[in-house]
Amino acid sequence: MNDASGEEEVVTNPHDPVSGHPAKVDFTGVRWKSVEWTMLCMLYLRACESRVPHPILGDHFAAQDVARIDYDFRRIHRYVRPATNQFAVALRSAQFDAWITDYLNGHPEAVVLHLGCGLHSRPFRIAAPEGVQWFDVDLPQVIALRRQLYSESETYRMVGSSVTDPGWLDELPAGGPVLIVAEGLLMYLTPAEVTDLLHRILDRFDTGELVADLLSKLGPRLSKVSMSGIIKWGTRDGGEITRWDARLRLIEDSPVLAGFDKISLAPQRLLYRLAYAVPANRNYDRLFRFAF
Ligand SMILES: C[S@@+](CC[C@H](N)C(=O)[O-])C[C@H]1O[C@@H](n2cnc3c(N)ncnc32)[C@H](O)[C@@H]1O
Repeated sequence: MNDASGEEEVVTNPHDPVSGHPAKVDFTGVRWKSVEWTMLCMLYLRACESRVPHPILGDHFAAQDVARIDYDFRRIHRYVRPATNQFAVALRSAQFDAWITDYLNGHPEAVVLHLGCGLHSRPFRIAAPEGVQWFDVDLPQVIALRRQLYSESETYRMVGSSVTDPGWLDELPAGGPVLIVAEGLLMYLTPAEVTDLLHRILDRFDTGELVADLLSKLGPRLSKVSMSGIIKWGTRDGGEITRWDARLRLIEDSPVLAGFDKISLAPQRLLYRLAYAVPANRNYDRLFRFAF
């Protein structure tokens, strides 16, 4: 972000790592368009969005992280087409932030399970109450990279494990309240894996909320064409989740694109307005908030 003097404003991140070296992306054996790779796309889009006038999310940590990661983002730039897609990602993250902040304000001692966290700066961007214990969980290679960008603290920890592995939960506090955050994650799991994951978490905590986005059935179909089939599950029906675990009840849902009016650039706002008018686009990615 530029301040009045035109200088790049430096955003202080209390979790900066000690080394100061660029983070190395060690994705040995990880394919282009793999699930681990998707989080670089999300990071890059948030970084781009932080530079538009009057951003919706304005994630300046993302911009700093892109600059700190030793990776050629030009190919990602061509693939993700930030001019339009940055706003969908910003709208999605901003709504997650709003629901998370709302929950944590009412539950200042909560445990947060930020599943499939990728390189989200959310734990540092959101001013969580001091009593909150935050756990960022993602696949081991992603967490290895994350550890080069952020450090742990008494209230912030990173867990390198697949969420489908039953072991990772055993080390964590139990009881509740808990906030389960799954942004851009559940579509990469099969319905059986999602069901099992939810059962295990809900067995461990007495009360809490789940915030998640779900892709429509178009998601897995499109992914076969353009993303090597990495999207495994699509539904438009949040009720499917409540049928899998009857302890969950749906309290709110909305399309990711619902806030398109907040886009400051007129051509992109118009494009989103048109996309929103078409049900298949409007309902492609929807946000759901459940309580238990
Ligand atoms: C589209 S990215 C979203 C990342 C982050 N939530 C964001 O919004 O920037 C999907 C993330 O889910 C993670 N993921 C996919 N399958 C996973 C699994 N089985 N266990 C843990 N993380 C997983 C990927 O590594 C990746 O970081």
